[in-house]
Amino acid sequence: MSTPALLRERRSVRHFTAADPGRERVAEVIEDAAWAPSGGNEQPWEVMALSPGECARLRDRFEQRTWAGLVPKVRTLLEAAVGGPLPMAEVGPRIHARIEVDGLVRGAPWALVVHTRPPAPPDPAALTEAGAWTRAALPPRWQAPASVAAFVSGPLDARVRRDSCVGFVLSLCLAAHARGLGTCIQYGYLAFEDELKATLGIDPRQALVAVVMLGWPDPESPINAAAIEGARRRPVPVEWR
Ligand SMILES: Cc1cc2nc3c(=O)[nH]c(=O)nc-3n(C[C@H](O)[C@H](O)[C@H](O)COP(=O)(O)O)c2cc1C
Repeated sequence: MSTPALLRERRSVRHFTAADPGRERVAEVIEDAAWAPSGGNEQPWEVMALSPGECARLRDRFEQRTWAGLVPKVRTLLEAAVGGPLPMAEVGPRIHARIEVDGLVRGAPWALVVHTRPPAPPDPAALTEAGAWTRAALPPRWQAPASVAAFVSGPLDARVRRDSCVGFVLSLCLAAHARGLGTCIQYGYLAFEDELKATLGIDPRQALVAVVMLGWPDPESPINAAAIEGARRRPVPVEWR
C-alpha cells in the first residue's frame, strides 16, 4: 500500500469480526507507532492493552454512557439529513437506532488505552537558578524573561507531551491499517477519566489520552461499507503566500 493510499483509505471501524488479531500482531502495531515524532523524542506515551475479553468488559461498563453526551449532536445530524425538525415522537427512537447501529462497537476488538504522565509543575527555585546561570554564561539574546521560562517548562511542556501522544495514537491507526486491521479512536471514554483509571488500575496522576479499538474489520458490515463509500473531506483552508 502506498503512503498516500494508507493516509486516504484508513477509516474508523466500529464493526469488527469475532477473530482475535492476537497479542503478537497488536504488539507489532504498538512498536510501529512508537516511531511517531515526539517533543524532545521523549516518547511520553504509555499503553494498557486490553485483550478482547477485557475490552468487552470495558465496553459493557462505559460504552453506552460515552454516547449519552452526544445525543443532542446526533439529533442535529439526523435533522440536517432530513432537512428540518423531526417530530418529538420520532426523535428518541431514531437517535437510539442511529447510535445502536452506527455508533456502538461490535465484535471482538482489543482496546488500547493510551495515557501519559503529565510533567511536574515547574519548580520556581530551579527556574531562578537556571535564569542566573543563563545570564552568567550566555549572551543576552539567549535569556528568556522569567514568564517565558515558566511557560516553556509548565503549560507548553504539558502540551508537547500530550500532543506527542496524539501523534502516537494516529500512528497506531495507520500502522494497524497497513496490516489490514481496523481502528476507532474513542474519546467518549475521556468523559469518565477518573472512573476509567480506577476501574483499570491506572495511576490517577496519569492523563488519559485516548481509547483505541483495534481488530479485524467485519467485511459483512454495511456500516463499514458505508464509512468507506461515504467518506468525505472538505478542502483544507490553506492561505498560500
Ligand atoms: C480526537 C478524536 C476523537 C474521536 N472520538 C470518537 C468517539 O468517541 N467515538 C467514535 O465512535 N468515534 C470517534 N472518533 C472517530 C471519528 O468519528 C472519525 O475519525 C471521523 O468521523 C472521520 O471518519 P474516518 O476516521 O472514518 O475518516 C474520534 C476521532 C478523533 C480524531
